[in-house]
Amino acid sequence: MSMLDAPARWGDPMTVLAPGHRRLRIGDGWRDAAGGATFAVEDPATGRTVAEVADADVVDGLAALDAASRATTEWAATPPRRRSELLTATYRALTERSEEIARLITLEMGKPLAEARAEVTYGAEFFRWFAEEAVRVEGSYRTAPAGGYRILTVPKPVGPCVFVTPWNFPLAMGARKIAPALAAGCTTITKPAAQTPLTMLLLARVMEEVGVPPGVVNVVTTRRAGEVVSALLADGRTRKLSFTGSTEVGRTLLRQAADNVLRTSMELGGNAALIVCADADLDVALDGAMVAKMRNIGESCVAANRIYVEEPVREEFTARFAERMGALSMGHGLDDGVQVGALIDGASVTRIDALVADAVDRGARVLVGGERPDGPGHFYPPTVLVDVPDDARMLKAEIFGPVAPIMSFTSDEEVLARANDTEHGLVGYVFTRDLRRALRFTEGLDTGMLGVNRGLISDPSAPFGGVKQSGIGREGAHEGILEYLDLTYAAIDLP
Ligand code: SIN
Repeated sequence: MSMLDAPARWGDPMTVLAPGHRRLRIGDGWRDAAGGATFAVEDPATGRTVAEVADADVVDGLAALDAASRATTEWAATPPRRRSELLTATYRALTERSEEIARLITLEMGKPLAEARAEVTYGAEFFRWFAEEAVRVEGSYRTAPAGGYRILTVPKPVGPCVFVTPWNFPLAMGARKIAPALAAGCTTITKPAAQTPLTMLLLARVMEEVGVPPGVVNVVTTRRAGEVVSALLADGRTRKLSFTGSTEVGRTLLRQAADNVLRTSMELGGNAALIVCADADLDVALDGAMVAKMRNIGESCVAANRIYVEEPVREEFTARFAERMGALSMGHGLDDGVQVGALIDGASVTRIDALVADAVDRGARVLVGGERPDGPGHFYPPTVLVDVPDDARMLKAEIFGPVAPIMSFTSDEEVLARANDTEHGLVGYVFTRDLRRALRFTEGLDTGMLGVNRGLISDPSAPFGGVKQSGIGREGAHEGILEYLDLTYAAIDLP
């Protein structure tokens, strides 16, 4: 059966989102774009159009900001317990409807169903975590050191927030912004990626159904992201921007956010080094490397971008890793047993193919994969490269796909210097049984996060974020809610 016959075999994952909810979610309604425009959403595994959604323009973006601004005072004054209950209800609804949401994620994004199910769990957990945080927002009270007056600190919601979310985790990246914002008492406008707007619309629908008040969660789908987001950031009512995406776009948004001195959270690009020491448990290192490289088909800012293996175990690690990569099955993410789904679009496949060609031109050898398949769909096979020279473009750029360059190293100092030789500082991974080496890498790697003997660090209860040009701020954990709170300090005389 060809991929084009796919929907007949799975039933239609689109039935979960009624046509009336494929429109803009603004205030208490679902509406068409003011100009009446729509755009097509594609199944990246077949190239078929699966839905048309509203293509918002600036008028619609500002209507969403009107709605968010109108709802702000009441939402901020809503008792934390009530806000918490609504977040818990969202967590429960997402969990109960996990399968249908996962199928929609796979349909529009391409990842295998097992990964989409994991994303629903991951995304839902942000609602559970921040439901618990909503009732634990604390200020402080103390006497000034010299006596005479009191110091009171009062946390307050920052106000209407604009969220720009990526296509690689259509649910979870929105969830980890919306959940803490609501917990803190902020209202929101989310602009999901044009490739994957459906999951965010479904989330808005779920939140409407559980009783989140109108105006608190607004969703604006658009192909005109630049003009719509610029208008939102230029409007003095917006108080916060949170963005997940590339460092390049992040820089542009930061410049725009500067005009109104907005609070910003930026989750930007990564270039993770994964370091396998000779003393590592190689089974653990292989499992960790497979997860760190292949979770989400490598389409993640925390994906291992460069694998450094200490010379004594290079040969064994490389052979075993290549064997595992070569054994992965590629196909439509909704098919049983598929481990590698379609990449997001043709441009992504072309970019990855060019990175592989560049490395090969500079002397790299392909052990597995490396051949772009014919269509339909946007596929690239799991690929392992060795002898990749340090000037290969893929060692500087985010690969964002299933391609693993393996290099060797001979000393901790050498590999630390090579791992840190990047503008990025999101995450690193190290595999070693030697506690001293684990600590040396923890202290020496310039990253916001580190996996030690594990290839998965993402966790709603942990502070996710980078240093250097990988971003500003943290998402998840207790730190995540602080991003949505301003602090008023009152100096109080008690005559
Ligand atoms: C990302 O790729 O942007 C985030 C990945 C994650 O949260 O695990």
